[in-house]
Amino acid sequence: MKRHPALQPFSRDHNVGLILARSMVQAADNFGQRPDVIQSLTDAWRLELDDHFQKEELLLLPLCSKESSERMQSEHAELRSLFEDLIAGSKEADVFRLAGEGLDSHIRWEERELFCQIEASASPEQLDELAKRTWIPEETRWESGLAPRREELMKRIVRTE
Ligand SMILES: [Fe+2]
Ligand SMILES: [Fe+2]
Repeated sequence: MKRHPALQPFSRDHNVGLILARSMVQAADNFGQRPDVIQSLTDAWRLELDDHFQKEELLLLPLCSKESSERMQSEHAELRSLFEDLIAGSKEADVFRLAGEGLDSHIRWEERELFCQIEASASPEQLDELAKRTWIPEETRWESGLAPRREELMKRIVRTE
């Protein structure tokens, strides 16, 4: 099913997150790759992921069931703590693996379950309001360099929808 436009900015962030998650799991297996991965994680956290978590909590929690709301908050808290450990210099392979696998499964849960629940339960007015609040801040992502074709992709979607 096509993602509702109001949630598409979060899904575009997820593309960046899934690539990062894969590189973190690979880093757990390959000691030599870790400094690069820590830099990628630091950049992604500072430029996008931290804001992504905050925006999901601000904008999506009011549209979630109690169970999904608790799951989102506890997974965000766990991931924040693992990322902070890695950014602060933890070199434990287990931390890389937990953070990478945790980010991957959190994103897959949101895409496969949470976003579908929201699309089914939110009213058209709520989704319109959400769209206003998710698309405008997304323009701040264009300059980050994490997803260089993002601006081009968004403009193409706006033209065809
Ligand atoms: Fe999330
Ligand atoms: Fe997310």
